[in-house]
Amino acid sequence: MFDVSAPKFFGRRKGRTIRKAKTFLLENFLQKIAIDENTVFDKSKLFGIIPSEVHLEIGFGDGGHLAALSEKKKNIGFIGIEVFQNGVANLLSLITGIKAAENETENPSILSTRTDNVRVYPEDARLLFAKIPDGFIDKIYLLFPDPWPKKRHEDRRFVNPENLKELARILKKGGILQIATDHKVYKRHVLHIMHECPDFKWTAKTFADWRNEPEDWVQTKYQKKAVREGRKPVFFEYERL
Ligand SMILES: C[S@@+](CC[C@H](N)C(=O)[O-])C[C@H]1O[C@@H](n2cnc3c(N)ncnc32)[C@H](O)[C@@H]1O
Repeated sequence: MFDVSAPKFFGRRKGRTIRKAKTFLLENFLQKIAIDENTVFDKSKLFGIIPSEVHLEIGFGDGGHLAALSEKKKNIGFIGIEVFQNGVANLLSLITGIKAAENETENPSILSTRTDNVRVYPEDARLLFAKIPDGFIDKIYLLFPDPWPKKRHEDRRFVNPENLKELARILKKGGILQIATDHKVYKRHVLHIMHECPDFKWTAKTFADWRNEPEDWVQTKYQKKAVREGRKPVFFEYERL
């Protein structure tokens, strides 16, 4: 699936230096809400709440979308996956309210209620799929995935038959896969690959259904950047058949 220069799975990726408060969160708080090999995928045990639905965000980036949604929809359990450590640290900062600038040397107190409906997998998404039971997830967000626009990197695109098989398995029937992109190559790629996939149906009935932001949408960091740079994002919604 990957070329020889790419690792089969991504390891945790570290970017710019992480501020002290965020390092504190990664070292002391992440474990409280992280999904690991001991996690039991039982809806009544996975979160601090019994969720009405479980939503999964793959590659949440800086966590802004996930943090805002989990605040708005407190009865939904959110699983966020991100391999980039700075992004995980940023999400933790957003959901605990602990910012890099404050109390860098003290042990900050954590607002547990704000995190009851969020769980985080800080590794490659593909390593988690096998642990998630069939039909466990109600909605999947794949927002502005890396486009890998060059033909020779096509196999690295997250939307591919192998990953779709797993996404279809973990999504309940009638569940939603939401894919957003601003890249023209990726737009065509998604339309082509999803058209070939027998497990999903494109829900759009009109042009506006995929050209405009869905109702109640929270913009992501990459979406804002794309708009600033003059690109028009599209929003594909697929229903699990
Ligand atoms: C282009 S960024 C978009 C981030 C965010 N969704 C947004 O719209 O702002 C893609 C993100 O997906 C993450 N990612 C890519 N492949 C992944 C994988 N296999 N597992 C987990 N995260 C992944 C990257 O680390 C990166 O943060």
